[in-house]
Amino acid sequence: MNVIRESPLPNLVYRGKVRDTHTLDGGLLLMVATDRISAFDVVLPTSIPDKGAVLSQMSAFWFGQTEHVVPNHMVAMAHDRPGVDIPPELARRAMVVRRAERIDVECVVRGYITGSAWSEYRKSGTVSGQPMPSGLREGDRFPDPLFTPTTKAEVGHDENLTFPQVVDMVGRGTADRLRDVATEVYVFAHDLAKEKGILIADTKMEFGHVDGKLILIDELLTPDSSRFWDMSGYGPGKSQPNFDKQFVRDWLDAQGWDHEPPAPELPEDVVARTRERYVEAHQRLTGRPIA
Ligand SMILES: Nc1ncnc2c1ncn2[C@@H]1O[C@H](COP(=O)(O)OP(=O)(O)O)[C@@H](O)[C@H]1O
Ligand SMILES: [Mg+2]
Repeated sequence: MNVIRESPLPNLVYRGKVRDTHTLDGGLLLMVATDRISAFDVVLPTSIPDKGAVLSQMSAFWFGQTEHVVPNHMVAMAHDRPGVDIPPELARRAMVVRRAERIDVECVVRGYITGSAWSEYRKSGTVSGQPMPSGLREGDRFPDPLFTPTTKAEVGHDENLTFPQVVDMVGRGTADRLRDVATEVYVFAHDLAKEKGILIADTKMEFGHVDGKLILIDELLTPDSSRFWDMSGYGPGKSQPNFDKQFVRDWLDAQGWDHEPPAPELPEDVVARTRERYVEAHQRLTGRPIA
């Protein structure tokens, strides 16, 4: 099986935790999703075969589905674009996008209480500082989705932002739009995924400006940026069967890893089962196997 740990293409401008970004002419970027996986903001030494293809192809699916809500940076998948001459193994995981001026806010929307929101609620009865009704159980659906933005930290962990802090950073008009658009994208995607047996518990979006216009950038509604639960096993009061990297986080925690680099190598069966989850999520949501 082909694993791409690092993109070998020219004009690399940015190597993120997962994506390698190259410049193209005309204000365009080529974003290559590698098979790297991060957990607790640390890149693991082990890669997950096909993961990058799943991320790029699933993002492409969602960018197409949500265009009516907000425009996005996608120009084309690299394998659909004549003239972009790169090997097939890279093309299937690469997207041509418009370069944007990034807004340094991670727009998190939560439909169900889990993860860091559940930890905070158990301690203080709040989520991202907002008081919540009492008696919520792990995995319960919120009456309405919550917008819980965070910083986009260059290194280390993202920190919660209050809405007034977002207003200070980007202005009232943009802050309102980030909240409204992110929430609308989440609600639309949640309802669509639910028909396919997947509950999107929460997700993270990034936005930027191109020619003064707000657009959605980065990846969209993937198992890296979202929690995907298997609806058939869903029930509040427990952790949920999922198609995301919770499986990897749980395995790492069972090893007693302190979330400081270096992370341990993943054993073969954990790699295989993680790959299966990513591939299955793509198949269920889009109705087709990855290309
Ligand atoms: N259209 C775009 N214009 C500029 N930057 C972008 C665009 N889309 C995504 N990005 C940035 O490119 C990087 C993608 O790589 P990733 O591996 O996700 O990095 P990170 O470790 O920062 O999350 C992110 O920093 C993201 O904010
Ligand atoms: Mg990222």
